[in-house]
Amino acid sequence: MATILRNGTILTQNQHREIFIGDVWIEGNRITKIVRSDDANPAANAVDWEDVSNVDCTGKYILPGFIQSHVHLCQTNLRNCGDDRELLPWLREIVWPGEAAHTYDSLYQTARLAIEELYRGGTTTVLTMETVQHTDAAIEAVIDGGIRAILGKALMDRDAGQPAALREDTALALSDADRLFTQWHGAANGRIGVCYAPRFVPTCSEALLRGVAARANERNALVHTHASENRGELELVKQLTGMENLPYLDSVGLLHEHSCIAHCIHLSTDDIALLKNRGSHVLHCPSANLKLASGLAPIHELLTAGVNVGLGADGAACNNNLDGLHEARLMPLLQNIRVGAGKVTAQVALDSLTIRGARALGLSESIGSLETGKLADVIVVNPNRPHAQGGADPISRLIYSCRADDVEMVWVNGVQLL
Ligand code: GUN
Ligand code: FE
Repeated sequence: MATILRNGTILTQNQHREIFIGDVWIEGNRITKIVRSDDANPAANAVDWEDVSNVDCTGKYILPGFIQSHVHLCQTNLRNCGDDRELLPWLREIVWPGEAAHTYDSLYQTARLAIEELYRGGTTTVLTMETVQHTDAAIEAVIDGGIRAILGKALMDRDAGQPAALREDTALALSDADRLFTQWHGAANGRIGVCYAPRFVPTCSEALLRGVAARANERNALVHTHASENRGELELVKQLTGMENLPYLDSVGLLHEHSCIAHCIHLSTDDIALLKNRGSHVLHCPSANLKLASGLAPIHELLTAGVNVGLGADGAACNNNLDGLHEARLMPLLQNIRVGAGKVTAQVALDSLTIRGARALGLSESIGSLETGKLADVIVVNPNRPHAQGGADPISRLIYSCRADDVEMVWVNGVQLL
């Protein structure tokens, strides 16, 4: 059975960022052919068997599914429950009590809700930090909901004002994370990955962080954490460790090419150089940074230094949506204010939402662009509704004018979800 997406404008996001009109073939869970409409050889595009489904994409964009490299599926039920706070009071008053109250079932349902919103807006892959308990429920929700995800339980063994249910014994936290990795990494035909997710320095002992570093190294697993999001957080880290945040993470072995670090707003030039030298990835969450009054991340400087930057909505509790296109729109707009117009472009934002996100997750060989042989995570966007009409540049139209509900069709791993 082949599905052929016919005659769309293909935003390949390949190495040359080629854009052309043509057809994308999906067979099994792979993209098996990409054919330009102006291809001189009609035989290459002929279909002579019946077992094929043709999807007319005339006037629409065909592109790789979006990759959100920082979300919390478990926080979706906290949407609109805690506005007008900065990070630490927001965590202590809203998020941590909310996470501690989850049952297995409430977490499953919350994650399913997140997944519905995500794929309907074109997001096909997420890197997600869950809570301390019931991460298996989020994994089951991803398996049932059909998207691709790398998940980690939040590791928290130090008191930073959270409920007791969110503070685990160090050895138990690490052994549960190991169990999740052994049980689920690679599950659902490879749609599920498991990472190690120490929440942030204030909730993690040095023993926990060093334990994560050793395990991630041994298993070639991703490390997913938050850092340098808020000035109060930075002061707390200084008090607790006597060091600045990123040098501390480096000292415990957590800055390397499998490190995915959300936010990174308050950085020194030394911090940027350290991230570059270690090959770590920054996960930019512009809406959350605005909503929690955290600040504007130095994305232009990070990119100029050669640091890879992905994008994410963070949780619905601090956004309050999970809309990848909205984050991609904000990324260049905020940098215009910081460093001047045009330093970070719409193309760069789309890169962060696709191939750069894939690179952060260690999946750039298999997702993040439309190329023959890659996994069939493909979306079709309709740019013809009134709010997106006008202009010939598809990237500008997609990033600055299109919205989540312009996404009309979605495939993940060759399975059509929308
Ligand atoms: N830092 C530690 N935990 C969190 C969280 O859940 N959300 C955000 N935005 N920052 C954090
Ligand atoms: Fe977060």
